[in-house]
Amino acid sequence: MERVRINASRAYDVVIGRGVLDTVGDELSHLVKSRTVAIVADDVTYPLFGARTKASLESAGFYTCEYIIPHGEESKSAENYIRILEFLAERGLSRTDCLVALGGGVVGDLSGFVAASFLRGIPFVQIPTTLLAAVDSSVGGKCAINLQAGKNLAGAFYQPSVVLCDTEIIGSLPDDIFSEGMAEVIKYGAIRSEKVFGLIEDGARENLGELISECVRIKRDVVCEDEFDTGLRQLLNFGHTPAHAIERLSDFKISHGAAVAAGMCIMSRAAEKLGLCEAGISDEIEKLCKKFSLPTTAQFSAKDMFAVAMRDKKRALGKITLVIPRTRGESVLYTVSEEETEKFFALGLSEGE
Ligand SMILES: NC(=O)c1ccc[n+]([C@@H]2O[C@H](COP(=O)([O-])OP(=O)(O)OC[C@H]3O[C@@H](n4cnc5c(N)ncnc54)[C@H](O)[C@@H]3O)[C@@H](O)[C@H]2O)c1
Ligand SMILES: [Zn+2]
Repeated sequence: MERVRINASRAYDVVIGRGVLDTVGDELSHLVKSRTVAIVADDVTYPLFGARTKASLESAGFYTCEYIIPHGEESKSAENYIRILEFLAERGLSRTDCLVALGGGVVGDLSGFVAASFLRGIPFVQIPTTLLAAVDSSVGGKCAINLQAGKNLAGAFYQPSVVLCDTEIIGSLPDDIFSEGMAEVIKYGAIRSEKVFGLIEDGARENLGELISECVRIKRDVVCEDEFDTGLRQLLNFGHTPAHAIERLSDFKISHGAAVAAGMCIMSRAAEKLGLCEAGISDEIEKLCKKFSLPTTAQFSAKDMFAVAMRDKKRALGKITLVIPRTRGESVLYTVSEEETEKFFALGLSEGE
């Protein structure tokens, strides 16, 4: 079992290891004064892990209740946000009681925002059950719900008391959900860690604990080093500028992870053709993506992708900051003009020389 300490406005541990789900009661009894713990889960995660979560909490002396949402992105809604707040109020939870998010990023984002606002904030615990939630959404303190006008438009920064990543749960995810998270894992490797490349090559599921802790540390370090948002954290957007365009052009039929994989490959190929990175990097990134059946390009034109990407981009005087790989395990920020961005996409989309 490993503990990664996150020194955010409130310091907390991310605990990573086999069977940590069964320690939730014990962990919480050291951290909070709660008597009642409300579990929020979806209709997939509750049947799988609800009973174990309740048993651990109850054996540590907590009363439990649960609120179950349908699975899927549509559940990250204002309606569910209000319903859960009303549920907590009806159950009489107090300021010291606690909310446990048992699920993927949807459950985590929605519950985090509920915890941040119920009675102006109650203790909150994340038990991420997807790889994406373990390496991305449960680190960094961002939580949000979607509004009619768009994704993540209402939310807060709210740190949990503890995050429990059970590698046995995440290691047994179906391939498609696992791959979705692997796209972000490959991203962490490409921006900051040659070690991640090696661990994936040796077997991601076998090295899951080490992979998750390495990714959590990278996200923590990049976010901490850039507390004042000078730009370093833009590294975490590697592949995401083309990815957002791909997601939109496909009407969100292409998932975020698949789009990020394609986006990383597009940026790497372009960087390599322009001589901006070591030869062979784009092949390595592509190989890792293919290992998880993730796409390595997209069927859209550079012109369309550029038009969509520019729509929602923060621009400083027509300049765009792209993230490009430099060597194995290191990426850099690279500022270009708008026209050059389109050229990047065009070069990256064509897979040949
Ligand atoms: N807060 C942040 O910083 C941040 C960062 C990245 C993504 N996000 C958000 O995260 C969400 C995506 O997260 P996600 O990919 O985890 O999606 P998700 O929560 O919808 O989970 C994906 C699917 O996997 C199922 N599932 C969960 N755990 C399972 C398990 N152990 N076994 C089998 N099935 C399981 C879920 O029921 C769901 O159907 C998006 O809403 C995104 O906006 C937030
Ligand atoms: Zn992402």
